[in-house]
Amino acid sequence: MIKQLINASLLVLIAITLTAFVVQKAQKNHPKKTDRKKTAPPPAQVSYKKDIQPIVKKYCLPCHTEDEMNPSELYLDTYDNMMAGGKHGKPIVPGKADSSLLVMKLSMAKPPLGDPMPLKRKTPFPQDTVQIIKTWINQGAKNN
Ligand code: HEC
Repeated sequence: MIKQLINASLLVLIAITLTAFVVQKAQKNHPKKTDRKKTAPPPAQVSYKKDIQPIVKKYCLPCHTEDEMNPSELYLDTYDNMMAGGKHGKPIVPGKADSSLLVMKLSMAKPPLGDPMPLKRKTPFPQDTVQIIKTWINQGAKNN
């Protein structure tokens, strides 16, 4: 009687171990949704109004508006102001994201001409957001 009981419990134990193993394997083969999000490509056609303006509004204003009188004289509140540039000329070179001062300020630890942007930010600027801006510039930085 006792022997049968031990045998039965052993079987149950083996079954549980096997199930746990199979479940673990299955999870490994199906990465969580958040993993996929990290590598999501930027939208095929980036829009100034739909994609860029909200980013600028969230991270760059109110510092870069005419009301705030930014020492860089760069105002990012409208498309025209952004393209016109500030103290050091046009921060955006259409078609050439990597030569654009605005991109350098967002992606380099020590950019040319002053500090990295956004100023006084404690955590690094999200690089997938920089990627959206780069794609928009490489697509011609249009007022679309
Ligand atoms: C807390 C205020 C603040 C925020 C937020 C901020 N900036 Fe700036 N920005 C400054 C100041 C001050 C300068 C001038 C000093 C410097 O260049 O380091 C400047 C300079 C710049 C320049 C150089 C312009 C030139 O001609 O010299 C660029 C480009 C720029 N910022 C882009 C951005 C972008 C893009 C964002 C948003 C992602 C942003 N900044 C957010 C305060 C800010």
